[in-house]
Amino acid sequence: VQHLSLIGIGTGNPDHLTLAGIKAMNLADLILVPRKGADKDDLAAVRLSILDAHLRNPATRVVSFDMPVRDPRIADYTARVEAWHDAIARVWADTLAGQAPAARVALLVWGDPSLYDSTLRIAARLRPQPKVTVEPGITALQALTAAHAIPLNALGGPVVITTGRALRDAGFPVASDTCAVMLDGDCAFQSLDPKAYHIWWGANLGLDSQSLCSGPLQEAGPRILAARAQVRAAHGWVMDIYLLRRQTQP
Ligand SMILES: C[S@@+](CC[C@H](N)C(=O)[O-])C[C@H]1O[C@@H](n2cnc3c(N)ncnc32)[C@H](O)[C@@H]1O
Repeated sequence: VQHLSLIGIGTGNPDHLTLAGIKAMNLADLILVPRKGADKDDLAAVRLSILDAHLRNPATRVVSFDMPVRDPRIADYTARVEAWHDAIARVWADTLAGQAPAARVALLVWGDPSLYDSTLRIAARLRPQPKVTVEPGITALQALTAAHAIPLNALGGPVVITTGRALRDAGFPVASDTCAVMLDGDCAFQSLDPKAYHIWWGANLGLDSQSLCSGPLQEAGPRILAARAQVRAAHGWVMDIYLLRRQTQP
C-alpha cells in the first residue's frame, strides 16, 4: 500500500458524502470494509449501501475483513485498546497480503476520522507507513445540530465535546455553557440537575430509524429515555448524541 485514503462518510445518509469523498472512493484500487463491527451495532450494511450509491469504478475491489474484538483479559483500559488497535492493523495488513497488490487503499470512516475515532491511530501502525490522507465527513455532532436546526455554540461561547462516562464522573464542564455528549450508553444526563439545562438529542441520525427529542431536561429527559428504548427495540441497536446548554435564569 502506498496510499491509504480515509474517507469520512457521515452517519449513514448517502447524501451526506462530499464530492471529494466520492472521488477518493472511485480512485481507490481497493476498499477495505469491516464485515461486522466489534461493537454490537453492525454498520457494515450501511457502509455497503453507501458504496452502492457512489462507487462507479468497476476496477475498485471491495474486500471485507473481520474486526478483531477487544481482549477482555487485559484489565487496563488503555492497554486493552492499544492491543486492539495493534490487532486491527495486523488484520488490515493480513487481509491486503491475501489480495493482488493495491497501491491505493481506502477505508470508509463513520462520521469524520477526527472525532472519537481511532482509524488514524491504527493507520499510523502500518509498516512500511503509507501516505495517509483524509477526506472530511459530516460528524454525528453536525448531523445533530442540522437535524434540530440549531447553532452549536451560544453567541461567542465555547463548546466542550465529551463522553457519557466523563459527564457522569466529572459533571457538567465548568468551562462552558454548552456540552456535546457522545459515546453514552447510559443516558448520563440523568446525573445532572434537570432544572438547569436544555437538551437536544438525536439517535441513529441520518438513518431511516432517526429519532429526535428536545426541550428543558426536566421534561425532555423522560421522553428521551422512552424514545431511545423504542429505537433500540425497533432497530436492534441505537447510537445517540446530545447537546446540553445551561439554562439562563429567567
Ligand atoms: C466511536 S464514535 C464515532 C464518531 C464519528 N467519528 C463522528 O464523526 O461522528 C461513536 C459515537 O458517535 C455518535 N454517533 C455516531 N453515529 C451516530 C448517529 N447516526 N446518530 C447519533 N449519534 C451517532 C454516538 O455518540 C456514538 O456513540
